[in-house]
Parts: sequence; C-alpha cells; structure tokens
Amino acid sequence: MLFEACEVTKHFGGLVAVHSLSFGVRQGEILGIFGSNGSGKTTTLNLAAGMIAPTRGVFRWKGDDVTGRKPHQIARLGIVKTFQNPQLFPELSVRGHLRIAGHLRNQRLRSAGGWTRRLLGTGARADDEARSIAKVLDWCRLAEVADLPALALSYGAEKMLGVAMALMCEPQLLLLDEPASGLGQAEVGNLDSVLRDLREHGVTLCIIDHQVGFLAGLADRAIALREGVKIAEGDVATVLRDPAVVESYLGSAHA
Ligand SMILES: Nc1ncnc2c1ncn2[C@@H]1O[C@H](COP(=O)(O)OP(=O)(O)OP(=O)(O)O)[C@@H](O)[C@H]1O
Ligand SMILES: [Mg+2]
Repeated sequence: MLFEACEVTKHFGGLVAVHSLSFGVRQGEILGIFGSNGSGKTTTLNLAAGMIAPTRGVFRWKGDDVTGRKPHQIARLGIVKTFQNPQLFPELSVRGHLRIAGHLRNQRLRSAGGWTRRLLGTGARADDEARSIAKVLDWCRLAEVADLPALALSYGAEKMLGVAMALMCEPQLLLLDEPASGLGQAEVGNLDSVLRDLREHGVTLCIIDHQVGFLAGLADRAIALREGVKIAEGDVATVLRDPAVVESYLGSAHA
C-alpha cells in the first residue's frame, strides 16, 4: 500500500467524527470515498493530510509511520490536499498562483542535500519552474487562461486552479475534497478527463464527492462512511449496491 490509515479515530469534544477507520490507497489508483453529509469524509482527508491530528490510530506512508507530522512535512512526503474552494488572489494571474504554489516544492529541493542540490543551480531551478508550470497548465487545461487574473475565471476554472496549485507540489497522492461541487455538466466532464490523465501520469488520487455518478465512473475502488464508520469497501458497483450504503444515502435524502 502507498498510504494506509490504521484504526484511526477523531473526536471533536464529545463528537466522534471518525471511528476506528482503516483503509489503504494503492499506488496508481483512484480511491473514491462515499458518504452522506457529516459522515466524516472531509475529516478523513484532513487527518490524512496532517491538518488535524488523530485522537487514536496510525497513518503509514510507504510503510513508515507518519502519524502526527505537520501538513508541510506531509506535503514534502508527497501527500497534498486540495481545498473545496481554493482561496485565490483576485488580481493575480493563473501563472502567478502556480509560481507561489511552486515555492513549497522549491524549498524542498533547496533543502535537499548532496547531489540533488548540486544538480540544481539557480538557472536550472528557474527552467525547472517554468517547465513545471507549463506542464501543470497543460494537464489542467488552463494554458489558455494562464495570463488572466483569477477574478476573470469561471467557477470551474477557479476550482481547476486549486487542483493545479496542488500539482505544483508534485504530489504522489492527491486528496480532493468535492472537486465537482458546483460545476456544470461540461465542467464535470472536463474535470473527469483531467483526473483520468493525472492517474495516467502516475498520480494516485483519493476523492470525495457528492456527485455519485461522477465519482462512481472515475474511481477504481471505493469505501463508504456513515457516522464516521466504514460501512463498505471494494469495487465501486459493489459498494454502491451495499444495503447499508443505499440506506445511508436514502436516509440523508429524507432528512
Ligand atoms: N473542527 C470541527 N469541530 C467540531 N466538529 C467538527 C469539526 N469538523 C467536523 N466536525 C463534525 O464532524 C462530523 C464529520 O464532519 P465532516 O466535515 O468530516 O463530514 P463530511 O462527510 O465531509 O460532510 P459533508 O459531506 O457535508 O462535507 C460532522 O458531525 C461535523 O459537524
Ligand atoms: Mg466534507
């Protein structure tokens, strides 16, 4: 397994948001996390990204215990989470946002010792940054709007910029919280093809979304949560047919 959660629990005061949750993410796959509102999906991704610490349990990255590391340390390992709604600077261009996002990665390269540092002279770093930005713009279908300020972007392009900024950190595992929320049908189609391409480029993905059809079509495997507990795991069709999963979605629809 690339990444594993082992019996992870998270309490917020008296509330148990995630209860003894175990799951793994395999190299190169898209794992979907299903569950109705308040079932613990976002909490699970925040825990995985080190943004909050678990009350109990362990996270493993390539077999190493990484529980309790800070978000920047987790990002350096290669685990990066995108936000549901990225905070953008209205006047700053798309390219400018990617430069800022690339800063973390450059810091990582600068702090690398030995031959890595020697290979990366100042000029090499600038070239490297331009290449990375061009690659990410291309992957995210943002090349045409690269020089527009964020305020001129459609909502779909804004959300895609959030994904692009995360990609500048060169994640091996990208965690996406509701990437399709608020998007129109054409934008969801575009997102779907971008995410499939990322998988082809070797990025492993873990995705939450309420657009069940979108996520079901994309994911290789799934888990489902209800009240912080894993109620199903396996191939997507089996998970979505699981009576407990059906009931949890219907129950929340009635509520
Ligand atoms: N920081 C927090 N402090 C207190 N309670 C929290 C906090 N974050 C989440 N919760 C609670 O934990 C539970 C799980 O929330 P979470 O946001 O993980 O659900 P979710 O599955 O992402 O829901 P949604 O589909 O609505 O985004 C909810 O009852 C929520 O109110
Ligand atoms: Mg959520």
